[in-house]
Amino acid sequence: MQEVIAAIRKYAPHFVPKMGILLGSGLGMIAEQLTQAITIPYQAIPGLQAGAVSGHASLLVLGYLQGVPVACLKGRLHLYEGVSYESIRRLVRMVKFLGADTLVVTGAAGSLREEVGAGEVMLIQDHIHLHPGNPLQGPNDESIGPRFVSLENAYDEGLRDSMKAIAARLAIALPEGVYLSLLGPSFETPAEIRAFRTLGADAVGMSVAPEVIIARHCGLRVMGLAAITNLAVGLSSDKVTHEGTLHFAEFAARKLTKLIPAFVKELAANE
Ligand code: HPA
Repeated sequence: MQEVIAAIRKYAPHFVPKMGILLGSGLGMIAEQLTQAITIPYQAIPGLQAGAVSGHASLLVLGYLQGVPVACLKGRLHLYEGVSYESIRRLVRMVKFLGADTLVVTGAAGSLREEVGAGEVMLIQDHIHLHPGNPLQGPNDESIGPRFVSLENAYDEGLRDSMKAIAARLAIALPEGVYLSLLGPSFETPAEIRAFRTLGADAVGMSVAPEVIIARHCGLRVMGLAAITNLAVGLSSDKVTHEGTLHFAEFAARKLTKLIPAFVKELAANE
């Protein structure tokens, strides 16, 4: 990690973020709100390949949101692109090593609940990780975190309570639910979606859970928001496509640009 931090320090020698904000497909809008922004392409950081998916910019943006120093990861790395878990570990741990204590994770998702439709935001209460393998597999570096990490309360209850109160104040509906993560890049079959409903999933997507496991391992507190871009396949006559996902991500992103700054401000004020 030293080489990762050294590369960032060339651009921002003294910047210490309070939190990291990981922005998924079509959700990058919030990074434009940062003031005194310093933008660093992932390519300039050793071990981070640029994500190839349209809607993902692959930029680290350091700056201030509501006066609070934050590190926005604009664009994530997906396993389905052939990226290794090692790169995803670097991306998440970079936030911790820059000095942050909290990670806000966002991701586009399909909803398994008919009453929660495209353009809505769901607060992630917990996850079901169905990616192949585990992002912590391989030798463990004890200086980063323990070999066996608890995922109880992975999506911090206190942070969820704050987020719910903020959403209520802003009059933005914020249903809470379980996010089920799959490798992708194929979308699910209707039969899989029926099966996932019986497993207790409320939303399905291709990210979030690996990053949250890595974040919890290195001791970052986590708050997760799923941007609902569609009803999961089989629940509506509309086809599930990446283009449709990006289109509706914009509606959810507008809500995120209200929810996240208010959250950042409140968190900083309470500490
Ligand atoms: N399935 C998986 N990932 C997604 C979906 C979906 O329906 N929508 C947005 N990301």
